[in-house]
Amino acid sequence: MNSLLATLQPYPFERLKELFASVTPNSAYRPISLGIGEPRHATPQLVLDALAGATRELSSYPPTAGSSALREACASWVQRRYGAGVDPATQILPVNGTREALFAFAQAIVNGRTPDATVICPNPFYQIYEGAALLAGATPYFVPSDPSRNFNINWDGVRPSTWNNTQLVYVCSPGNPTGAVMPMADWERLFELSARHNFVIASDECYSEIYFRDERPLGGLEAALKVGLRDFKNFVLFTSLSKRSNVPGMRSGFVAGDANILKQFLLYRTYHGCAMSGMVQAGSIAAWNDEAHVAANRELYRKKFAAVTPMLAAVLDVRLPDAGFYLWAAVPDGDDERFARDLFAHYNVTVLPGSYLARSAEGANPGAGRIRMALVAETEECAEAARRIVDFVKGTRR
Ligand SMILES: Cc1ncc(COP(=O)(O)O)c(C=O)c1O
Repeated sequence: MNSLLATLQPYPFERLKELFASVTPNSAYRPISLGIGEPRHATPQLVLDALAGATRELSSYPPTAGSSALREACASWVQRRYGAGVDPATQILPVNGTREALFAFAQAIVNGRTPDATVICPNPFYQIYEGAALLAGATPYFVPSDPSRNFNINWDGVRPSTWNNTQLVYVCSPGNPTGAVMPMADWERLFELSARHNFVIASDECYSEIYFRDERPLGGLEAALKVGLRDFKNFVLFTSLSKRSNVPGMRSGFVAGDANILKQFLLYRTYHGCAMSGMVQAGSIAAWNDEAHVAANRELYRKKFAAVTPMLAAVLDVRLPDAGFYLWAAVPDGDDERFARDLFAHYNVTVLPGSYLARSAEGANPGAGRIRMALVAETEECAEAARRIVDFVKGTRR
């Protein structure tokens, strides 16, 4: 066996299952889960129609680079969304959701035979980054999100000796679980460091279309153009339809950026065998070409967050994030595991302990004392969960 497999950590939901194993939830309440971040709004009809109209695609092998029609649809979306012109022939690749791509990317980029090969991950973070780094033979290095910087990362907190060993940096903006959007000044600093230390930036932006303020979240491609990085050297964007278009089961996204890197990534993917089904490509073209369903979806989240956030803010340290569909709240006594377990026991509401989404680094776990709540269910169900959380914190029963 590949001995690196033994270095993988249990997934947060496995840990949650273990935490709840000995608990019997209060059956007076029906179960509500704010645990898993899986979109639950309806899939748009136009995507379903496009999929249904493309069954003939199943009779042939799709090319790993996708069809030119799909790559053009992605490039047009990048132009409209970020004002960035990318060449659909060389600067776009379809992927089967960002999860597989974020993982595969490290396998293609990282040279694990280099001593002290390092991959930088935000902390808390999406667990795939860590597994990708470990299986690529690198050591993940965790940099904490900083509550005093709107949960953004202070890149200057990383030592020069660490940067020297760094081959890849994962950025997650808007962040899961924090909802933070990385500001221009932080992008500028990261691009400077990338130029100096020659590392690649993998920018996971799969929550970019769910935001709560008028300004759209700044994207990495936009930031690269602002610093004059016209060829997007050492930068690759990862984006997805899962959250934007409520199709987590379709498995569709794309990467865009540095043409030299994408050429190598395409080579890797050809061997890995992860071409996107032609049927999914047809559904994806329809989705990327339409913004009306995205605006309607965003509006649903806005109304939901406007209803639920103030209820929770009355009893928890929590506020409306920049973007995404999570609330990242501090719990009153600082024990996130106990909070999640007792809430489940007394009120049958599932939330995820923040410490499960982060690693202890330099003596601290930046997820400790926090919980993540995914507001993916309908507003009334989320509001009911919030009412129960209020009662739980206040120690009252309804
Ligand atoms: C931060 C982050 N990145 C990537 C993904 C993967 O999404 P998908 O593979 O559906 O694009 C998720 C899914 O929850 C996520 O939270």
